[in-house]
Amino acid sequence: MFEKADLSVIIPTYNEYENILQLVEIIKDKLPDGLFTEIIIVDDNSPDGTGRLIANYIENALSKVCSGIQHAHENSSNFAINTRESIVRLVRRENKSGLISAILQGIKSSTGKYILVMDADFSHPPETIPLLINELLRDPNSIVVASRYIRGGSIRGWPYKRLLLSRLAAKIAIHGLKLCNIRDPISGFFAFPRHIIENIRFDTYGYKLLLEILVKAQGVRVKEIPYTFIDRKSGESKFDNRVMLDYVHAVWHLYRYGRESKLVTAEEEKRRSVLFLSKAARFYSVGATGLLLNYIVSMMLTKGIISNFWYLQASTIGIILSITSNFFLNKIWTFEDRNFSPRNTLKQYGMFLGLSTVGGVVQLILLYLFVQSGFQYTASLVLAVAAASVSNFLLNKKWTFREKIWG
Ligand code: GDD
Ligand code: MN
Repeated sequence: MFEKADLSVIIPTYNEYENILQLVEIIKDKLPDGLFTEIIIVDDNSPDGTGRLIANYIENALSKVCSGIQHAHENSSNFAINTRESIVRLVRRENKSGLISAILQGIKSSTGKYILVMDADFSHPPETIPLLINELLRDPNSIVVASRYIRGGSIRGWPYKRLLLSRLAAKIAIHGLKLCNIRDPISGFFAFPRHIIENIRFDTYGYKLLLEILVKAQGVRVKEIPYTFIDRKSGESKFDNRVMLDYVHAVWHLYRYGRESKLVTAEEEKRRSVLFLSKAARFYSVGATGLLLNYIVSMMLTKGIISNFWYLQASTIGIILSITSNFFLNKIWTFEDRNFSPRNTLKQYGMFLGLSTVGGVVQLILLYLFVQSGFQYTASLVLAVAAASVSNFLLNKKWTFREKIWG
């Protein structure tokens, strides 16, 4: 039944009776034109009746809209309901279960393509909303944060102790979690497109949703817009020692999360190098069996054991046989390729043959160049064979057997 919104503004409330209605009115006034916006208030059964206040407000607004429709029906001119640019919704929770979980629940029940999160106590000035949204629309893959700690931003009305703690908390997050692209990572006032959180599993307790997004939405661009945080005039802050402890706990969790995902990448990197080396080892073993086969066949063909060929003929047969056996051994054993369709196999064989020929020619050219530039023959031979066989391995890996070079 709900029309999907363009923008969802999420406002958690706990005892914000004095603030919330006035805030909603001002926000409606500040919203950028052309965006259908839902304002979602998530109330944790506030004892001061914030939830009831909002419920009444919505009911009133609805009855106005309904009488508007009635009216419109009567003189069938304008349809009040279609001119709506915003709608207010209430999410009611039984118990006070914390700021982050309230915001997350609000997000879950929202429909907007873009999401903006803010406090209910006027600490986050509604005038900043259009600035955040405009910036977000300019780069819809970024997260736009209202910031107290960039030039132009500030805090008004906090005691010195809390200023210091907030600064400290921001520093801990920036250095501990290596967030080098943001100055106010603990801001509670920010906007982002829904898709960047779609694959995130949130599990932090405590107070800082933004931190978790910054750590887990890897590589997301961050833009900060300065604002002045004004301490609340009505109601009470829920900031206390418990909040501080939760914060430290949350940062620690995110730190471990970062370390674990790095460990996983290190593990993966190790696995890939082992794979690469073991394939190279197999490829060279196969090469050695080829040489041996070549040698034995040439011997048998020239020494009259099987027949009496001219030595160049014998060597040609030896080479062809060894390349062929190399090909199949590499296909089956080195690269574990089980696709034996005639077409594919023939194509690969042709490629392998071509690369072996190129390898041989490269080897001769290198040998010539090394010897010419004054290297000893044996050393030159070893170098030339090594260079040609390395490139042979890599090129066959990539082109004949269609694998990535690394891994
Ligand atoms: N539903 C719900 N449940 N709302 C809550 C809860 C809760 O358990 N706890 C707090 N809120 C609401 C408040 O009603 C207010 O709208 C908002 O969350 C922020 O709570 P405050 O108690 O005013 O927080 P603050 O001013 O100390 O902290 C602010 O500053 C931090 C930066 O230092 C907040 O803006 C934080 O988000 C911000 O990170
Ligand atoms: Mn506050």
